Amino acid sequence: MNKQIKVAVVGATGAVGEAMLAILAERNFPVGELVALASERSAGQKLKFGGRDVVVQDLATFDPAGVDIALFSAGGSISKEYAPKFAAAGAVVIDNSSAFRYEPDVPLVVSEVNPEQVRNRPRGIIANPNCSTMQMLVALAPIHRKAGITRINVATYQSVSGAGRSALEELGRQTAGILNFQDPDPQRFPVQIAFNLIPHIDDFQDNGYTREEMKLVWETRKILGDDAIQVNPTAVRVPVFYGHSEAVNVETREKISAAEVRALLQRAPGVEVVDEPKAGGYPTPVTHASGRDPVYVGRIRDDYSHPRAINLWIVSDNIRKGAALNAVQIAELVLQER
Ligand code: A2P
Repeated sequence: MNKQIKVAVVGATGAVGEAMLAILAERNFPVGELVALASERSAGQKLKFGGRDVVVQDLATFDPAGVDIALFSAGGSISKEYAPKFAAAGAVVIDNSSAFRYEPDVPLVVSEVNPEQVRNRPRGIIANPNCSTMQMLVALAPIHRKAGITRINVATYQSVSGAGRSALEELGRQTAGILNFQDPDPQRFPVQIAFNLIPHIDDFQDNGYTREEMKLVWETRKILGDDAIQVNPTAVRVPVFYGHSEAVNVETREKISAAEVRALLQRAPGVEVVDEPKAGGYPTPVTHASGRDPVYVGRIRDDYSHPRAINLWIVSDNIRKGAALNAVQIAELVLQER
């Protein structure tokens, strides 16, 4: 492998950017030079990368010439403006925002599910899926291949880290404040998030679903390459710091039993089955997912209300597999082409 890869991380000071730096170092990605980019506000700040200090530079004045791989996680509008500039300068852009996910000439890749799509990147841009879709499809793709999924009903329980560093701070501050008899002052979320649940993530659409919910529909179809799959999501923000959970019901064309699904998922890449019908015999964000790589699956059971349906509980660290880890895994796939 080429030892002199120049890697840029755009949004390096954010929750996902920070994890990108940590995961690049952890996985010994062959970084020759690491460029940390953020807004003018953070320029000059020092970040740690593999035991070294890296000084944050201002994206607006940075010249992308010579960058081999750019990992973007600074929001959709930054990606729309800067990703094409990095690609034009010769970089392969791996974009964690939703700016390009639904464009036909931009592949949308989950490394365990459709790694072959990485090569189809005429614009030099590869999109990283939404965190909720990511973990759901790592677990469901093997079932789809075996039995043909026709419909997915999913309710998500999404941690605040998915909304960035300011959201993590709001949950912490609000929790402490309420315990000290202060009134909550919601800023990052539309209503109080501490000790509460919010059935509203991203903007409302004309059809009554939120955009976060529609991402599960659009992205599932694109990644599995099957426009016939029906997806019915409800996305909920919960007062958890790290780790998204999903209660999923899948209907299949062929009959597949819970026991067969359990055996299938025990062999599936990126999946860890934690499924014993006893106290603690299931994954939770805090006990299993937070800070770890796998997608954990438990509560696998036959749907007794339907002849061909299965229930699952899917939990993963939304900042790692849901964002930064998959982006680095895509970068590893790009490197393998060299
Ligand atoms: P900054 O820290 O300088 O604002 P999060 O999703 O955790 O809030 O992180 C968002 C990331 O996107 C941060 O690294 C943030 O940098 C970066 N970002 C936000 N706005 C800009 C901008 N205009 N130019 C470059 N980076 C930006």
